[in-house]
Amino acid sequence: MAAVHESVLDAIGGTPLFRLARLGAGLPAPIYAKAEFLNIGGSVKDRAALSMVLAAERDGLLRPGGTIVEATSGNTGIGLAIVGRQRGYRVIAGVSDKSAPEKSDILRAYGAEVVLAPTAVPAEDPAHLFNVVRRLVEEIPGAWLANQYDNPANPDAHVRTTGPEIWEQTGGRVTHFVAGVGTGGTITGNGGYLRQVSGGSVTVVGADPESSMYGGGDGSPWFVDSIGHFLHPDTVEDRWPQAYRSDAVDAFERIPDRESLLTARRLAREEGILAGPSSGTAVAAALRVARRLGPDDLVVVLLPDSGRSYLSKVHSDDWMRQWGFLEEADDLRPLIRPLLDGAGPLVVVDAGATVGEALEALRAAPGGVAPVVLARAARPYGVSATEVVGSVSRAVLAAALSGGGAKPGDPLGDPLGALIGPVLPAVGVGQSPAEARAVLGEAHEAAVVLVDGRAVAVLPRAAFGG
Ligand SMILES: Cc1ncc(COP(=O)(O)O)c(C=O)c1O
Repeated sequence: MAAVHESVLDAIGGTPLFRLARLGAGLPAPIYAKAEFLNIGGSVKDRAALSMVLAAERDGLLRPGGTIVEATSGNTGIGLAIVGRQRGYRVIAGVSDKSAPEKSDILRAYGAEVVLAPTAVPAEDPAHLFNVVRRLVEEIPGAWLANQYDNPANPDAHVRTTGPEIWEQTGGRVTHFVAGVGTGGTITGNGGYLRQVSGGSVTVVGADPESSMYGGGDGSPWFVDSIGHFLHPDTVEDRWPQAYRSDAVDAFERIPDRESLLTARRLAREEGILAGPSSGTAVAAALRVARRLGPDDLVVVLLPDSGRSYLSKVHSDDWMRQWGFLEEADDLRPLIRPLLDGAGPLVVVDAGATVGEALEALRAAPGGVAPVVLARAARPYGVSATEVVGSVSRAVLAAALSGGGAKPGDPLGDPLGALIGPVLPAVGVGQSPAEARAVLGEAHEAAVVLVDGRAVAVLPRAAFGG
């Protein structure tokens, strides 16, 4: 018989394991998924929230009438809203403006106040989410910053609850634990516990977006919410969360966005588990790990949250196509993909470049007709659509060249400044030319084509026909 609880807080934790029988079919080792989306607030973060609030009360940091403040991608805010409101506190959640809008709606529904702020600015910028949240704590009497990134009660939740559950549920047979790394609380707490209780025999694998820094990427943007470590190009001092201990992780699997997102979609269709994109990353990593194992091994992969918060993103065919993650050939609907054959090379220039540097880049990529794309940073993993900040037309640059020369007032050394045109509209490689024409409207002469969320070409209006 199912449990009867006197408070929802008693229902946090105790989640089931599900065998991934279909996705794992034919693999030598079984994979079991820890269904953290079944927590009362819908994510693994309920555990961290409860643990942090109880620790703050115990340590006298949070007193009756107090206010809980946190910077959160949503799930920790939901956990804190539930726990905080049940225990009588005001709750303020600072949410990244990149986060899915449904997450803020849920926070408000639970009675939290939501403050939106950017995270796509350097960490030193006063407008950055973390700085906004710190100011709130200074200004509100009795306010306490949960600070999941550095709070030891975050990983400790997993040392005390999730880790022991996994050990008990598998009868001590677990040999590999796979999870994504956001604050690092999940992997550090579970990994540390499982290693210790198994006498060091459990292998801990971090599932990381390919360009995230945890697993060795360059820190450029990716499309899986809530995991990985991003590095803004202008950040001076990069700080990693104290909830994360790199020595708790034996190895990383670095998962490209397309693999993460398609795996999250397969989880829903093939296993009946509607989970978020970070679950896709974790399961993709678990599948890679299980392929290398034997029948005596047992993989546990942690699924942090539900796919209901991402119906307009990973679980939307339109969204997947718009960002170039989905290309389904359909006789009735031609795709943009074949048009790439006729595209000239993509010319990307740093947004801070000079006129001379932009001209140099154009000379190195002759034959194109489309404008130059300006990006905040062009890094080894290509230019994420989210880092494109403008464009410069070739005609404008050519005019600047004809006016320029090696004389005083030489325009070649000038910043692009007034020559900079708008961000070009973007289309996914799996969209149709007709959709591209609609996106261009009357106002734009060219569109950026995206594959896996990254710019691969700029095509002029004429390329899309019509
Ligand atoms: C959906 C989702 N996946 C993964 C994580 C990462 O977990 P952790 O912060 O414990 O590393 C989080 C954390 O916020 C999350 O919300």
